[in-house]
Amino acid sequence: DIDRLLLKLKGYYFDHLSVDIGFIENLDDFEIREDDVFIVTYPKSGTIWLQQLLIPFFEYNFQKIYLGKRPSPGLLSTHLSYYLVPRGLKNKRAKIIYVYRNPKDVMCSYFHFEKNVKLQFTRTFEEYMILFLEGRVLRSLWFDHIKGWYEHRSLFNIQFMMYEEMKKDLRGSVLKICKFLGKELSEEDMDTVVRQATFENMKYDPLANYDKIITTAYGTNVKGHFLRKVTIGDWKSHMTVEQNESFDKIFQREMKDFLLKFIWDV
Ligand code: PPS
Repeated sequence: DIDRLLLKLKGYYFDHLSVDIGFIENLDDFEIREDDVFIVTYPKSGTIWLQQLLIPFFEYNFQKIYLGKRPSPGLLSTHLSYYLVPRGLKNKRAKIIYVYRNPKDVMCSYFHFEKNVKLQFTRTFEEYMILFLEGRVLRSLWFDHIKGWYEHRSLFNIQFMMYEEMKKDLRGSVLKICKFLGKELSEEDMDTVVRQATFENMKYDPLANYDKIITTAYGTNVKGHFLRKVTIGDWKSHMTVEQNESFDKIFQREMKDFLLKFIWDV
């Protein structure tokens, strides 16, 4: 069942198939460099998309590399909660880009992902929604993740980016990232970066679909593409009126007074 997959360490659910426990235990001391850039996300919120955007700027190695020897500047991605990341990040060395997405679409994307990689121990969307809202999923509770990072933002050198805004205005989003990173791109480079990061371009790219990583971690019988269909408001084709109402009730309770806004619909 689900508890066989989830491994709770430091109050957070990891995947016991792929977690390196020693690494997590010593994470606090992981050396952070001034020019490191971290992409922080809750799963299914645009991690790979950001990687695709930033790869032209930074070398990035998808295979297991010895991180102590990583090329500089280093681009690293993590789903970790704010309280788990290396201490060095709290000294505002290195930059963090936090990407967030409306949680109903996150939940739907996650549901399909787990089904595709056969990690799913629930049969129905209804069952999955309960686990998601209880945080009994990999990387724990969505509400804790975003609230933790946002409420502690003054500890970090962090830029928040919204998935839906990237979808609506990719060029504008790239500009925002450039500004945050202190990079200037020529018009031509900007065109290249934007073109490479369109969904159409990424859809059939095995690297962007993590094909190798997924088969290594979860076996070759994994079905389906990592990149699905990309719409804003995909939740509408999954959730019943009742499910939506109960989601909203929990959302309002958890997120009241939260400053960041969400886009639920195109
Ligand atoms: S993971 O598992 O956390 O690394 O997944 P993550 O990359 O964060 O999120 C996967 C979803 O991001 C969508 N995606 C994109 N949307 C728009 N444009 C581009 N270029 C793009 N690339 C990836 C991807 O399709 C997943 O969302 P869903 O809703 O499942 O399609």
